[in-house]
Amino acid sequence: MNNNLIEEFKEKKVKIGSLEISPPTFLAPIADISDSIFRQIVKEFGGVGCVFSEMISADALTRGCKKTALMLNFDHTEKPIFFQIVGKDPLRMAMAARMLEDLGADGIDVNMGCPSKNVTKSGGGSALLTDLKKAEEIIKTVRRVLSIPFTIKIRAGWNENSLVYNEIGKIAENEGVDAIFFHGRTKKQMYSGSVNYEWIADLKSRVKIPVIGNGDIVDREESLIKMLETKCDGVMIARAAIKKPWIFKEILEGKEVEVETLLNIIEKQFKKLKEVYPENLAKHKMKLFLSWYSRSLPHGKKIRLQLNDAKTSSAVFDVFLKYKDNLK
Ligand SMILES: Cc1cc2nc3c(=O)[nH]c(=O)nc-3n(C[C@H](O)[C@H](O)[C@H](O)COP(=O)(O)O)c2cc1C
Repeated sequence: MNNNLIEEFKEKKVKIGSLEISPPTFLAPIADISDSIFRQIVKEFGGVGCVFSEMISADALTRGCKKTALMLNFDHTEKPIFFQIVGKDPLRMAMAARMLEDLGADGIDVNMGCPSKNVTKSGGGSALLTDLKKAEEIIKTVRRVLSIPFTIKIRAGWNENSLVYNEIGKIAENEGVDAIFFHGRTKKQMYSGSVNYEWIADLKSRVKIPVIGNGDIVDREESLIKMLETKCDGVMIARAAIKKPWIFKEILEGKEVEVETLLNIIEKQFKKLKEVYPENLAKHKMKLFLSWYSRSLPHGKKIRLQLNDAKTSSAVFDVFLKYKDNLK
């Protein structure tokens, strides 16, 4: 029965506006992580139907911020690719969305779920769940300027006493949004507790546009099945993909990847990070990735301890190379 669910899912397509995505699996937007280099790694393992960029501030993009420009790189092998924008000013959001459409995005997603203080204090991300009028204005304004698929990514509400996912779902459906990505937690929960599958099933039963379930998918046997039982039209994965960029292949085919393969990938990725980014950003990203990857590597804790002292990107690379040598 469960295996049937997965077999059916593998063959499924989800229609998001003019796009048909198959399998209906999505790499989530992940700040600082889901850049072009990482998206290509995930695509190479296979099993992912569509990738998302990290969130891009509409303000920063439309004001020509240099660091934001580095977030715009993508390669044709990543397609179809959605770019995600974050902000609260409808006109700036629309301007950013158009710039990204012109750049070659296959779809635009608006972030209405980010719980981080940096984002919510200026009214974006999950703060929009407390101001549905503003959320509706953003949706209408962005929809009007786009000819490519347009989606929103939400949480359930600010807290358990203010669940708005059905209201925002209706607004989205009425205003021509093509799909909803739903992380089944509230803003208040941040990443604690567990995802609420009932909320996802509830939203799915009330709107006609596709609902993509997101939250806590880490394996094939349990969490994927639970998410598919909500009858969602597709699944989106973030954290498990950072630890295991082959997670999509693993949940669809049930195949694990050997440590040796991951080590080779890290080495290639780190060389590219050093090439593409300025030193400080390269160092920051390498530390971040190594600390996530270390959670699926044997004796990974040793790596995390050594990372504290690494002051340059080359020093981070050395931590990795020493670890790799010691494993032999
Ligand atoms: C480090 C990190 C960065 C994230 N960045 C973004 C982001 O840029 N935009 C967004 O909509 N969600 C972001 N998220 C949320 C994820 O996309 C996803 O909704 C959440 O992690 C739940 O999925 P998971 O259980 O598969 O990790 C981020 C999550 C993490 C852990």
